[in-house]
Amino acid sequence: MMTVEDALTRLMGEVPVFAGGHVWLAGAGPGDAGHLTLHAIAGLAQAEVVLHDALVSDSVLALAKPGTELIHAGKRCGRPSSEQTSISNELIAQARAGRRVLRLKGGDPFVFGRGGEEILALAEAGIPFRVIPGMTAGVAGLAAALIPATMRGINQAVIFATGHGAESQHASLNWEAMASLGQPIVLYMGARRIGTIARRLMAGGMASGLPAALILNATTPEQHVTVTDLGHIAEVVGTADEESPALIVIGGIVAMRRRIYDLIAQLQPELR
Ligand SMILES: C[S@@+](CC[C@H](N)C(=O)[O-])C[C@H]1O[C@@H](n2cnc3c(N)ncnc32)[C@H](O)[C@@H]1O
Repeated sequence: MMTVEDALTRLMGEVPVFAGGHVWLAGAGPGDAGHLTLHAIAGLAQAEVVLHDALVSDSVLALAKPGTELIHAGKRCGRPSSEQTSISNELIAQARAGRRVLRLKGGDPFVFGRGGEEILALAEAGIPFRVIPGMTAGVAGLAAALIPATMRGINQAVIFATGHGAESQHASLNWEAMASLGQPIVLYMGARRIGTIARRLMAGGMASGLPAALILNATTPEQHVTVTDLGHIAEVVGTADEESPALIVIGGIVAMRRRIYDLIAQLQPELR
């Protein structure tokens, strides 16, 4: 039998070596450092410079090796393209200087994270890179809130959508059509536009009584989950701390949280 330390030592012996002049684009997960992958930890342990998003938690950054330069690069959401270009340019410049560059993003780098743009820029500049997947908030955050993303008999698909641009006539998704699919929607960056989105989902046929949840600071010690329904979700979001990263979940899967809680609370009454 191996100890935890033995298992980690063996696994860490198999992680890739970070070469100078390379960029690793890694996901840091939604907050809890325990959700980092071994490859992301290996990146933190070997990088000379880390360019990180605002949502990468301090407990994750604390794992960088001593002396690593930490550069805050990126607002929470909806970066203007000029800022995005300067981040890509910084990655290219750091790599050309021969450094081991870790680009660390919250969640998964390819889910609403503009990771695609960044590797395109690296590829165009001829910079070698590696992509390290991370746990996206829309999956890890639901699990941490005891909401199964899929549940037999409830849903056969999950829609991951961004609320960003929901009010723009050009960029807006067809929320009415999404409502008609009858599948749960997990909304990233939806807090500011939830009023419009909820109205349009109801116009598309979703019942106002459909369960909905707001998950703030998923997986962190500040995690806070509120269960309500589609008709009231905008009101609930309106009273929440707007600085906290927020996921909004709409659909029958949300009701599972209460069911599961009621069952485990019999064993662990302190959960009530
Ligand atoms: C720019 S997107 C980045 C998503 C990230 N790449 C991912 O895969 O999770 C930022 C949004 O992700 C969601 N998010 C990220 N971390 C979160 C967390 N710990 N709790 C709740 N929502 C989170 C929020 O909707 C936030 O506005």
